[in-house]
Amino acid sequence: MSEMEVQELGDKLLSIKGFVFPESNKNSLTPEYMEQLKTFQIRDDDVYVVTFPKSGTVWTQRIITLLYEKELNESGEQTSYDLMPWLEFPNEGEDHSNRRSPRLFCSHLFENLVPEGLQERGKIIYVSRNPKDIMVSYFHFTRFMKILANSETYNELMEKFFSGRMIGGCWFDHIKGWYTNKDKYNILFLRYEEMIRDLRGAVVKICEFLGKNVSDDFINSVVKKSSFNYMKSDPKANYKSLPDDIVDHEQGAFLRKGTVGDWKNSLTVAQNEHFDRVYQERIKDLQLDFVWDFA
Ligand code: A3P
Repeated sequence: MSEMEVQELGDKLLSIKGFVFPESNKNSLTPEYMEQLKTFQIRDDDVYVVTFPKSGTVWTQRIITLLYEKELNESGEQTSYDLMPWLEFPNEGEDHSNRRSPRLFCSHLFENLVPEGLQERGKIIYVSRNPKDIMVSYFHFTRFMKILANSETYNELMEKFFSGRMIGGCWFDHIKGWYTNKDKYNILFLRYEEMIRDLRGAVVKICEFLGKNVSDDFINSVVKKSSFNYMKSDPKANYKSLPDDIVDHEQGAFLRKGTVGDWKNSLTVAQNEHFDRVYQERIKDLQLDFVWDFA
């Protein structure tokens, strides 16, 4: 089997090289497209938000599209999804090569699948989150995303999380790839938890990283417009425009709770202990000091 072949995983999921995505994206993410991405031409002013799903992608996407509003969103009417589309899931007829600069992208790809040119040019913001909160967020996410199969119990989902049978693939491989290869890239690491604790501080960090010299008032307005409550009711930021064949808007929302530590309300003591055991075993080679519950 060619390395770039598509594998069917069941649960309405497909995989290419361990990267797992919904079957419904099969026309946009093909093995040929994945192959082409390796040589996709990067520009100096490209900005990429890279995350494992449910780590705060849409939030960071909103912050960055607000920071680039003047350059990109002259009418002020475009959604963050329009302004910062998915690298690996181009819309029909969309060719990222034809977009004007600065180009903003979101991606859930593993480090070994992103364009090689990113090692020379462009900037990446990688956002990570407590994997237990990712799991809980995903549990609810699959209930309103019609294109995904849901899990009945957390035991079932935990096994999928450990084996990488969820969108994104294996969280451990994702985080390992990006952290261990960080020196190859111009990359800023942020954590969901630090964004919750100090959103303004995170926005300032992002501005510094992107070389954006903006006023305090502008930063204040970005902080206000990217707060959970503002985003939840902002049609440009809340993904409510996703069509009904993809999302059942009655069953949930992209902006669900937006808190740290929701896993404590969802996992039993035994499930938490099991998670910790597997987590310690699988993360230990990384030699990273991951403390998630600091917010
Ligand atoms: P919860 O399901 O725990 O609420 P992603 O965008 O990667 O899919 O991540 C989704 C998670 O980010 C959801 O977590 C969502 O509520 C949270 N989120 C989105 N916008 C946020 C904001 N402005 N503040 C805090 N959390 C936010």
